[in-house]
Amino acid sequence: MLKQKKSIVGLDIGSSCIKAVELTREKYDYVITGYAQVDVANEAARQDAIAELMRAAKFRSKRVATAVSGKNVVFRYIGMPEMGEDKLVHAVKLEAEKYIPFDVNDVEIDAQKLAVATDAAGKTEMKVLLVAAKKTVVADHARMLTELGLQPVAVGVDGFALGNAWELGDLVHPGIQDPGRTVALIDIGATKASINILRDNVSCFAREVPMGGQDLTNAIARRLGLEPAAAESLKRDPGEQLAVVQEACGQTLEDLGNEVNLSFDFFENQFDGEVQEVWLTGGTALLPFLEESFEKIFEKRTKTWNPVEGLKVRSDSVDVEALNQLAPQLAVAIGLAASS
Ligand SMILES: Nc1ncnc2c1ncn2[C@@H]1O[C@H](COP(=O)(O)OP(=O)(O)OP(=O)(O)O)[C@@H](O)[C@H]1O
Ligand SMILES: [Mg+2]
Repeated sequence: MLKQKKSIVGLDIGSSCIKAVELTREKYDYVITGYAQVDVANEAARQDAIAELMRAAKFRSKRVATAVSGKNVVFRYIGMPEMGEDKLVHAVKLEAEKYIPFDVNDVEIDAQKLAVATDAAGKTEMKVLLVAAKKTVVADHARMLTELGLQPVAVGVDGFALGNAWELGDLVHPGIQDPGRTVALIDIGATKASINILRDNVSCFAREVPMGGQDLTNAIARRLGLEPAAAESLKRDPGEQLAVVQEACGQTLEDLGNEVNLSFDFFENQFDGEVQEVWLTGGTALLPFLEESFEKIFEKRTKTWNPVEGLKVRSDSVDVEALNQLAPQLAVAIGLAASS
């Protein structure tokens, strides 16, 4: 019998742009069999935009993996006695009340084991990342997708999706990532930056910073006295005004970079290791001067990450040129598809 091919659509519903990538498992390969993205003006336009995008993309599968984010999702680092993964989520649920600002009955809770640390007295403690999302948010999200005729199979968070996309890269392209390295993945969207720090391909830290490309557009608009739409166009295609745009973005990038640096400090204190390199994704990573600006602030090797590298692409159903051009913006969508 032929082995069934499994396809899944990673649907990254960003605040400014919806990205969908269909990933199909074929024997030992992961193949991108569909791709579409569309900008959305505001939240009210979102559901129609998703419907339109799914119609236009003609994916073979209706199974979608998505993520929730924002103020209704919290991350906490907690210490627990050492135990197996199977018991962990249950144990964390019992403890969660102490750590989260919501009633535990109102949230979905997930937990990920990070590292095991031994203190001076020889007592071991497991570091655990707890993620709590309001049940109403997860349910509304799933309902919206079901109403569109889609089949939601997983709801995750952007930070972990990034980690999954990175692991997929390692799987399909062994050797491009040195073992033992500590890397920071940073996805900078319109309103937020999601950070995920991995040591030896294991996620150790995830956080969201509420800053992004929208702040850059606002800074350009203020500095040059432009309307927001004109500032947005200039940012995306500065032409001869590149130096002016870069200058206008300087302070905002510095502020964002400093916030990210605080996360690096936290990680380095908690995990006794140094972030060695930084990989940038998200729409804002399309800025031509982002690598250079951040490399100066972080004082670490900083590169734009292409999450499509190493994956096969079905060219009869995918606009390969658009996919390659916008690849850095697709890390979350690819990671969502890869995690299910
Ligand atoms: N060519 C470009 N150059 C610079 N910035 C760009 C470019 N194209 C898109 N952007 C910016 O990228 C951002 C959108 O990126 P992305 O799709 O990752 O965000 P999002 O997922 O919608 O946002 P969020 O994750 O914050 O909800 C916008 O702020 C947009 O201005
Ligand atoms: Mg995003």
